[in-house]
Amino acid sequence: MATPSTAQPETTGAVLEYQGKTLALPVVTGTEAESAVDIQALRAKTGLITLDPGFGNSGSCRSAITFIDGDQGILRYRGYDIAELAEKSTFLEVAWLLINGELPTRDQLSEFVNEITHHSLLHENFRNFYNALPKDAHPMPVCMSAVATLAAFYQQPESDEVTRENVVRLIAKMPTIAAWTYKHLIGQPFVYPRNDFDYSANFLHMMFATPAETYRVDPVLAKAIDQMFILHADHEQNCSTSTVRVVGSSRANVFASISAGIGALWGPLHGGANQQVIEMLERIDAEGGDVQRFVDRAKDKKDNSRLMGFGHRVYKNYDPRAALCKRTCNEVLNKLGMNNRLLEIAMKLEDIALHDEYFISHKLYPNVDFYSGIIFKALGIPIQAFTVMFTIGRLPGWIAHFLEMRKDPDTRIARPRQIYTGATQRSYVPLEARR
Ligand code: ACO
Repeated sequence: MATPSTAQPETTGAVLEYQGKTLALPVVTGTEAESAVDIQALRAKTGLITLDPGFGNSGSCRSAITFIDGDQGILRYRGYDIAELAEKSTFLEVAWLLINGELPTRDQLSEFVNEITHHSLLHENFRNFYNALPKDAHPMPVCMSAVATLAAFYQQPESDEVTRENVVRLIAKMPTIAAWTYKHLIGQPFVYPRNDFDYSANFLHMMFATPAETYRVDPVLAKAIDQMFILHADHEQNCSTSTVRVVGSSRANVFASISAGIGALWGPLHGGANQQVIEMLERIDAEGGDVQRFVDRAKDKKDNSRLMGFGHRVYKNYDPRAALCKRTCNEVLNKLGMNNRLLEIAMKLEDIALHDEYFISHKLYPNVDFYSGIIFKALGIPIQAFTVMFTIGRLPGWIAHFLEMRKDPDTRIARPRQIYTGATQRSYVPLEARR
């Protein structure tokens, strides 16, 4: 497994002046010339900490996995452009790349694919796990719990080899967990994986086949799903990936750490946004299709609504995944011969927002979730399960970061500090004396 790049401190640094004293702080530069002030000595030397809610200015680690330039709309995994990978690669090849740092050779890829293919079954006791859940259980807590439960099935003490095996298990079983979660939701029998299908075709098979009739996996749709997984495979230190790193920094195992990441991804401001996009489009449709009114509400500070699927913490010009996703979206809808009303509303919304002064000045553009929701809806995936698609895609990225964090000699248990704003010391008031 690859180790993080060791960017060296530059000779010139930054200087902090505080209470008449100066402190020289080294500046660290990465391979793409991004620079950071290294403040590791700050508290010891000055008693100060930094305050950066949402971590918008804070680097938490050095990482050699993914490079993003939000202003230029660049996304690269291990140096390879996302558009090239989405066009030429497969999801499992990209997973190998993220985890190992290099594209696999033919032999490495075939061995990896073979391993993944032969670890896709869940232990039969998992049937009881699903049966214990309410019929309408939301797929995200189900996936979170299922991944955490894998830790109960694979309890060997941690070693490099055990972690490697667990990584294979996770990637292999995630589509089965996701598909069985869906089957549980709709009350259909679980469908077992088939080793003669590739990763994404097998996933569609487990999702949509039933014992009652033959289900033919459409290669165009399988390819679209595979591309969607590639587009979601990593996005450097986002909320869920940082969660995986934070949890893993306590030496929690890979299953527990990834399960926590799934919890973070569930949030509507993160992976939950693709579900919210469709709900928003349905709401606009139900209210008569007045797109302009909805855009006006999203701009109104007194109104809480936002245009879901618009805006990004990092991309301020365009989201390169959104452009690719839009193309896949058109291919899928053409293939399925769909002229979807929601898509019409989405296109109108996109058009109005892209020409609206508020969205232009706030640098708000459609993000990947804007189109992915439409693709998943067209494929027949229920909206509660959208974020599960994202989960399968993001898994290799989480794993790569977990492994990188564990190998990084700078890793310490994550433990931010705070500025306390509560009451200062006071005496305990007995219950009878409280008003
Ligand atoms: N609609 C309307 N206004 C918006 C939107 C939006 N979608 N997003 C941001 N704004 C406005 C805010 O009101 C704020 O305005 P102000 O400066 O006038 O007060 C300004 O833009 C900055 O917004 P922040 O929330 O501070 O930006 P931040 O970088 O923290 O948030 C986020 C980014 C969470 C993605 C935000 O744009 C948002 O909520 N988008 C909708 C949810 C969404 O699509 N999430 C998916 C993200 S992609 C992913 O996770 C794969």
